[in-house]
Amino acid sequence: MNILITGGAGYIGSITNWFLKSKGHTTVVFDNLENGHKEAVGDTQLIVGDLRNKEDIRKVFSDGRFDAVIHFAALALAGESMEKPYEYFYNNITGGLNLLEAMRETTCKTIIFSSTCAVYGFPKNLPVAEESPIAPASVYGASKRNFEEILHWYDTIYSIKHANLRYFNACGALPDGSLGEDHKPETHIIPVALSKAVSGESFPLFGKDYQTQDGTCIRDYIHVLDLADAHLKAVEYLQGKDTTVSINLGVGRGYSNMEVLHAVEEVTGKKLKTVDKPRRWGDPDAIYADNTQAKELLGWEPQFTDITSIIQTAWKWHEKHPLGYKS
Ligand SMILES: NC(=O)c1ccc[n+]([C@@H]2O[C@H](COP(=O)([O-])OP(=O)(O)OC[C@H]3O[C@@H](n4cnc5c(N)ncnc54)[C@H](O)[C@@H]3O)[C@@H](O)[C@H]2O)c1
Repeated sequence: MNILITGGAGYIGSITNWFLKSKGHTTVVFDNLENGHKEAVGDTQLIVGDLRNKEDIRKVFSDGRFDAVIHFAALALAGESMEKPYEYFYNNITGGLNLLEAMRETTCKTIIFSSTCAVYGFPKNLPVAEESPIAPASVYGASKRNFEEILHWYDTIYSIKHANLRYFNACGALPDGSLGEDHKPETHIIPVALSKAVSGESFPLFGKDYQTQDGTCIRDYIHVLDLADAHLKAVEYLQGKDTTVSINLGVGRGYSNMEVLHAVEEVTGKKLKTVDKPRRWGDPDAIYADNTQAKELLGWEPQFTDITSIIQTAWKWHEKHPLGYKS
C-alpha cells in the first residue's frame, strides 16, 4: 500500500513509518518539523508543510495517490494545552479538517487517527473500555474528542472510513536504539527518568497522594512498536469494509510512577533521586485499557508486556542519543 503519514517526523509517526516500510509498504511523510526531526524520517520522502495551511496538504494529494492516511500530526501535551487552548484547538481541529477536506476530493477514503485515552478523563471503572463515558479533562483530550466527532460526520456524509486509535502511554524505542523519543520539552516519565538517572538530578514526582497503593499515578505503558503494528492492522482492517471503529491501545495493566522509576533504576543500574511536586492538571489516579476490542477486531497482541523490557529499548536509544537526534 501507499500510505501518507502526517506527523511522521515525530516520535510515534517515525517509528510507524519505519515499521510500515519494513513490511514492504511505501510511505510519504508530511510534517511541519515544529516538533519533529528530519533525521527520524530516514530515506522516506518528506514533505515539509503545515496542516493549518489548506494548500500545503491539498498539494500532497494532487501530487500523489494514497490508499490510506495515518494522522499523527498534533500538539500533544495535556498540561501545555491548558496554557495554550487556542493553539491546541486550532492545530488539532483545523489541521485535521484541512486534511479531511483534501482527502474528500480524492479516492483515498481511509484514515487512522491518533486519539488518546485522555478522551476518558477521570474514568470511574477500570480497565477502561471503549464504551466508557467520554469526558476529557483537558483541552488536549477535548481537541482529540472533537476530531473523533468530526470524523464521524465525514464518514456519514463523505464515506471516509476511520479508526480512532485511543493510545494509552506510548513509550520505548526501536530495540537497536536507532529511532526513539525526542520531545522538547520532554515530559514523559521514562525519558525524563532516564536522563535524570544519568545526570544525577532529581526526578520531579507530580503527586504522591493519589488513591493508589503507593500514592503515585498508575498508567498503561504501550511500546511504540506495538502501536505501529496496530496501525498497520487497522489500515488492513478498514480495507474494503464499510465500517468505522474506536479502539483502545494499551497493554491492559497499569504501573505506578514509583514502579516505573524502580524499573529505570534496575535497567540503568543507577539510583534515582526524586523531588515532590504538586499534582498536574487533569491527571487521573489510575487508568489502564480494556484492550479486548484491539485483540478481537484487529487480531493484535502486544509483544512488550512488561515495563522492564520496554525501558530497556528506551535506554538503548538514550545511550546512543543522549541529546536526541542532535547527538
Ligand atoms: N506520546 C503519547 O504517549 C501519545 C498518547 C496518546 C496519543 N498520542 C498522539 O499520537 C500522536 C503522535 O504523538 P507523538 O508523541 O509522536 O508526538 P510528536 O510531537 O513527537 O509528533 C507529532 C508530529 O506532528 C507534527 N505536527 C504537529 N502539528 C503539525 C501541523 N499542523 N502540520 C504538520 N505537522 C504537524 C510535529 O512536528 C511532530 O513531528 C499525536 O497526535 C498525539 O496526540 C500520543
